[in-house]
Amino acid sequence: MNKKTVKDIDVRGKKVLVRCDFNVPQREDGTITDNRRIVSALDTINYLLENNAKVILCSHLGRPKGEFKKEFSLKPIADELQKLLGKEVKLSSDVIGPDAEKLTSNMKEGEIVLLENLRFHREETDNDPEFAKKLASFADIYVNDAFGTAHRAHASTAGVAAYLPAVSGFLIEKEINFMGNALENPKRPFVAILGGKKVSDKIGVIEALLEKVDTLIIGGAMAYTFFKSMGYGVGDSICELDKLDLAKEIMQKAKDKGIKLMLPVDTHVGKEFKPDTESKIVKYTEIPDGWEGFDIGTETIKMYVEELKNAKTVVWNGPLGLSEFEKFATGTDTIAKALADSDAITIIGGGDSAAAIERMGISNKFSHISTGGGASLEFLEGKKLPGIECLLDK
Ligand code: ADP
Ligand code: 3PG
Ligand code: MG
Repeated sequence: MNKKTVKDIDVRGKKVLVRCDFNVPQREDGTITDNRRIVSALDTINYLLENNAKVILCSHLGRPKGEFKKEFSLKPIADELQKLLGKEVKLSSDVIGPDAEKLTSNMKEGEIVLLENLRFHREETDNDPEFAKKLASFADIYVNDAFGTAHRAHASTAGVAAYLPAVSGFLIEKEINFMGNALENPKRPFVAILGGKKVSDKIGVIEALLEKVDTLIIGGAMAYTFFKSMGYGVGDSICELDKLDLAKEIMQKAKDKGIKLMLPVDTHVGKEFKPDTESKIVKYTEIPDGWEGFDIGTETIKMYVEELKNAKTVVWNGPLGLSEFEKFATGTDTIAKALADSDAITIIGGGDSAAAIERMGISNKFSHISTGGGASLEFLEGKKLPGIECLLDK
């Protein structure tokens, strides 16, 4: 990475404002269901503590839209951090108000303060310069480690860098190194697997990856838009009728470039959108009316697993089926297992695919699981991320 990191700046005795992405999934009562984003922030926090910095943490949680709302409080995050660090984390009851002022003014070395949810102020998402300046006034140095929010140009992710020396944390560095290397310098064959709901969500990624990969594997609901564009019926499957030309263009482009574009050859269809629905496996050309495609079929799974055996680098984004329902998780789970057992460099592009691997308890078998959903997609698309662009160059 060509940006300065916490190691390139003297943090001793300094107040350091660290932007993290603590936007974790929660149950209704606030219980955290996946703490990966919090765990991923620990390297930077521990480094700062070991180097006698005064640590001021900040994050958003959900989308409270500029209002103080108790259910969006960072209290559960403070508790979890305290548990993981084995150290007191003082939660400020406001973001830039008197409590934040008080807690950040007389800090000792090795102390940790967490500001309340940044999005309790609309100025955060508006990237308001006065709000950014106020945040900056608490600290001497700004560290951005919120990879998951690096695609947003908000006050705490980009604006604040105008007022303080700005460097990256270890998580952003790791994310950029893993995904950047895979894209720029892949061990080949380089295979990308794209699944998920909509072609339109992933079109930028598909186009960018067509410039880089040897094989592009398609699964998930987006496959049906391709089938439809070839003139086949897709029953009640998710299908974007306004993207049929686009699907054709993608297939043509892959052909022109000599890239192997693999689409499912069979599909697991169900009668209704429910976990125990009647279901069967049919050829991709024979999806009956009144049925809906929820997963890739047995033949497709075999074909994809076979292709992945040769791969040296794999980037995967998006489940291959409706993996929240056990009955339709076979495609996603079998491909995940194949990747877990593979010697290839395996990178998961965040979001629902990362959740599937977490559910299976095999996260440690992958080279890298991004903490970014939207951010990792934009990175794979080759877009510049404002949260990284704003940092000091090396
Ligand atoms: P990611 O978050 O990994 O980028 P997406 O958000 O694009 O992935 O898509 C994930 C969602 O797509 C999941 O909720 C999954 O159940 C759904 N999905 C995938 N395939 C199908 C399908 N065939 N029918 C309905 N939903 C599907
Ligand atoms: C995410 O979960 O993708 C990030 O935390 C960004 O959240 P946002 O989509 O609400 O900006
Ligand atoms: Mg998703």
